[in-house]
Amino acid sequence: MLNPIVRSTAKILRRNYTMKIRNKTASIATAKLRRLLHGTSQSHEQVNITNTGIGITIGDRVLHPLWLRERSTSSKSVQKVTKQPIFQPHEIDIDIKIDNADIVNDDILYVKFSDGYTTAFNIKKLIREIESFNNSGIQVEDLSMPLYEIDCESTRQPKRYHLEDFMQKHYNDAGETNISFENTNPSVKIEALETLMKDGHFILEGVPSESGMVEKIGNAITGSKVRPTNWGDYFNVQNKPDGDKKDIAYTAEGLPPHVDNPYRDPSPMFQLLHTLENDCEGGDSTAVDGFGVAMELKQKNKEYFDLLTSVGVRWENDGGTQTSALYCISPHIKLDSSGKIIHQIYYSPKSGGYAPYLPPDDLDKFFKARWMFAKMLNEEKRIASFRLKKGDVWIFNNMRILHGRTAFNPSGKRHLQGSYIDVDGVQHGYFHAKHRIKNAGKESPTYVYNIHDRV
Ligand SMILES: [Fe+2]
Repeated sequence: MLNPIVRSTAKILRRNYTMKIRNKTASIATAKLRRLLHGTSQSHEQVNITNTGIGITIGDRVLHPLWLRERSTSSKSVQKVTKQPIFQPHEIDIDIKIDNADIVNDDILYVKFSDGYTTAFNIKKLIREIESFNNSGIQVEDLSMPLYEIDCESTRQPKRYHLEDFMQKHYNDAGETNISFENTNPSVKIEALETLMKDGHFILEGVPSESGMVEKIGNAITGSKVRPTNWGDYFNVQNKPDGDKKDIAYTAEGLPPHVDNPYRDPSPMFQLLHTLENDCEGGDSTAVDGFGVAMELKQKNKEYFDLLTSVGVRWENDGGTQTSALYCISPHIKLDSSGKIIHQIYYSPKSGGYAPYLPPDDLDKFFKARWMFAKMLNEEKRIASFRLKKGDVWIFNNMRILHGRTAFNPSGKRHLQGSYIDVDGVQHGYFHAKHRIKNAGKESPTYVYNIHDRV
């Protein structure tokens, strides 16, 4: 027995048959399409949605029958609630054709496939996905996150947000701020995480300077757990080894710009650094936008850029205790699967980045490319300098923003705690906050107010 949706679709297909026989081309003015997409009307140019006999076109884009079919959300194709597909690709005829197609009310496309399957598509959604594959989904409609914004000349200073704004006005009986995922303020969280995506970093200030608080902040952003490593859930950056673990970072020496953990695969994407104490001479923080520098290198010397995106070098670590080994082989500049977008910077001289054996002429070019990249990364004009004060948590994209510090007087007090979160956690925190805004009023209020609330 056909389910109600399929029955209704079949009926409408029959109803529009005559229209299709009389006129194989249906068209929607661009003005109408613009209204569908953007709610505005600016052009009178015609855009055709045509059943050509071999497929359907929207404008000048030909839709493959299987591309269309995998977007069907009919209950014959997906689980009703999750919209997760319930078919295997090989269960659909590889040579499937479109038998009939009709447009109703300018926004619904009804299709009958050659295997008898009928279904309906929202034209607006099809166009949106064609135009914005990364930001428009099937199981979840809104996948849009801000893209990174880069100023090649200089790295943006981190914007600041306060914990009491980041969390809702919610305190426990002891009068302490309740730091948890549920109590994050969705609108402030969205703004802060959009800053993280665009600028690459931000500072959350006013966080109690207590050990382990960095982990709580990470958990409150992601709604899950921070990413543990063999250093534990968090690590201590001060002028002494972190337990039995040694690293150049655990001294009072200055640290040139670097990313953390290029020897892990995958590297942690976001780092949180919480300032428990920073009462010393020196010890200012530095940041460099590695994406900006890589893009500038591409403009300056494409051959060097290509070498640094293609020659895999080896990054190493001994586990901190000289009792283990971690390594990863990757070029300094990793592109995404399109080969056009910068995905990750690998740069940390203290983790090696050892070149493979190549003939001397090839290595000569590679070392020149790396020399120029390193020089650009360390140029003062690109470095944002700022001071982390007690209670600040600096959150940055560890794949993009290189971090460092100036040397500090070892007789002073400087103690930071660090932790990592990954992109899935940030995505979850971001889209969950958006969902909460969208469904505001549908939530049952859980906030507790008392005299500690800020006015
Ligand atoms: Fe570091």
